[in-house]
Amino acid sequence: MLKKLEEIKSKAVDELNRIADLKELEAWRVRHLGKKSELTQILRGLSSLSVEERKAIGSFANDAKSVIELLYKQNMETLKEQFYQDIEATAKGGKKGAAAKLDVTLPGRPLPLGRLHPTTQMLRQICDIFVALGFQVIEGPEVEWDYYNFEALNIPADHPARDMWDTFWIDYENERGERNMLLRTHTSPMQIRVMQQTRPPVRVVVPGKVYRYEATDATHESMFYQIEGLAVDEHITFSDLKGTLYEFAKRLFGEERRVRFRCDYFPFVEPGVEMAIDCFVCGGKGCRLCSDTGWIEILGAGMVHPNVLRNVNYDPEKYTGFAFGLGLERIPMLKYGIDDIRLFYSNDLRFLKQF
Ligand code: FA5
Repeated sequence: MLKKLEEIKSKAVDELNRIADLKELEAWRVRHLGKKSELTQILRGLSSLSVEERKAIGSFANDAKSVIELLYKQNMETLKEQFYQDIEATAKGGKKGAAAKLDVTLPGRPLPLGRLHPTTQMLRQICDIFVALGFQVIEGPEVEWDYYNFEALNIPADHPARDMWDTFWIDYENERGERNMLLRTHTSPMQIRVMQQTRPPVRVVVPGKVYRYEATDATHESMFYQIEGLAVDEHITFSDLKGTLYEFAKRLFGEERRVRFRCDYFPFVEPGVEMAIDCFVCGGKGCRLCSDTGWIEILGAGMVHPNVLRNVNYDPEKYTGFAFGLGLERIPMLKYGIDDIRLFYSNDLRFLKQF
């Protein structure tokens, strides 16, 4: 047995002298140290030997294994070094050893390109339309004060309309013990912030995220985007509101789309309306997406309430204005036939890659 072990060791050393690259070295390792190698078989069979034999042969076999392992490690380092030197030599013009197979003229592997989220694409497209109509684009905070989100918009603390916009409140109390900071429920607080900082004429659109404590369904999310619009000047009338929104719908959806205005109530406008587009899925007949109505509401709008103008020290006798708040995700839903709003933020690449 000892003779056999001696043979194994010298055969391994002998073969090692002829090894030229890392692939051959790996095959050598498997041959001499792998599970099926002669050495491993001998080590496995030690338990069947007598105590004396086990002592003598065991220590010899373990020594042989350590020697072969050490040789493997040393050769691995040398061959690796050699490999990198060859690559360098190839890059400098000459070709040597393993790296001679490296073709530096091959084109690189293509990296998958990212793209903009469909919401962002649509947001930019809509903003571009309003910019072309003379509006300026601005943004505002998502964490908002009760004052801007409700109070200054003619929605005092006990107003029942607050129920329409239940939201997530920030765990913070002021010195009077009031919890008055929240995640904005709409982009309308920006009407106040803009008017506080500027004098008419005002023409702005404000895109951004809004939040609601909402049971989600095919057309409702608890986080979604809105685009607020505000125009204030002398002599602005309801016709300006209708004309602007018709023009917007025409540019975005094409001439053939039907638009519907209906009375609606928002405490910060008077009169208030909602605008809807005929449902693309059923062509107006009624389906799951449009809740069997044939129409999909995309925005709320109206003439700015005189109380709101007073709250920002604008004279309601001199200035009038219109405002609108558009639910952004509903637009690509209409345009591309997406029948569930929850697809937008579920991070499914099969959905996102389509845009
Ligand atoms: C508002 O948020 C008002 N601030 C809009 C407004 C602005 C009216 C200026 C008058 C003047 P409303 O809650 O209806 O209104 O939301 C406006 C639009 O946001 C809706 O028409 C709808 O398109 C979209 N929307 C509302 N709730 C959700 C929701 N949970 N998920 C997705 N989109 C929504």
